[in-house]
Amino acid sequence: MKFFLDTANVEDIKNANDMGVICGVTTNPSLIAKEGRDFNEVIAEIASIVDGPISGEVKATTTDAEGMIAEGREIAKIHKNMVVKIPMTAEGLKATKVLSAEGIKVNVTLIFTAAQALLAARAGAAYVSPFLGRLDDISTPGVELIETIAEIFEVQGIETEIISASVRNPIHVIDCARAGADIATVPFGVIMQMTKHPLTDQGIEKFQADYKAVFGEQ
Ligand code: E4P
Repeated sequence: MKFFLDTANVEDIKNANDMGVICGVTTNPSLIAKEGRDFNEVIAEIASIVDGPISGEVKATTTDAEGMIAEGREIAKIHKNMVVKIPMTAEGLKATKVLSAEGIKVNVTLIFTAAQALLAARAGAAYVSPFLGRLDDISTPGVELIETIAEIFEVQGIETEIISASVRNPIHVIDCARAGADIATVPFGVIMQMTKHPLTDQGIEKFQADYKAVFGEQ
């Protein structure tokens, strides 16, 4: 399973990219709004940092296929690595069909059922984004959705990649990997949580103390 960073914050993206653990980025209208910056400017900056797929979503207020297609074409022009994120609606599927046929990669987002994932794949989506955490939030096991989609795509020979989205903690990450997700898109805070273990910190402290006791600070 690969990792994308789920943010529009360029400092966090630089940091995670320097660690060598991410190979793409996903954004959404909420994440862009949080940064308070121009969409095209921030997306172009992200694309200059990470050499991999960058998902930029059509405006939240654009709900018709024609509008999404027009915006999707503009997003695709920003950089060769751009992926157009389209919400899972009937209009979104129409836009996915047209953009995919033009060779523009589409990430169909806000997936909450396997049926939605199957439709998105058949419309031509390069990626589907099932939202794990938001299902958990309503007491529905999100990981079961990832497992089901992974099983269906395997059985049906579907090449659309599964991006586990709405990932909230390291346990989610491990669950997604076990369930067969191709990618987990994770917030920077979760990447940092994944780096840590108290025994690692204690081990470093002990190595430092033992070394300094003999060699001093050199
Ligand atoms: C990414 O594609 C999604 O938009 C994002 O993971 C949603 O996460 P949230 O449910 O924590 O807002």
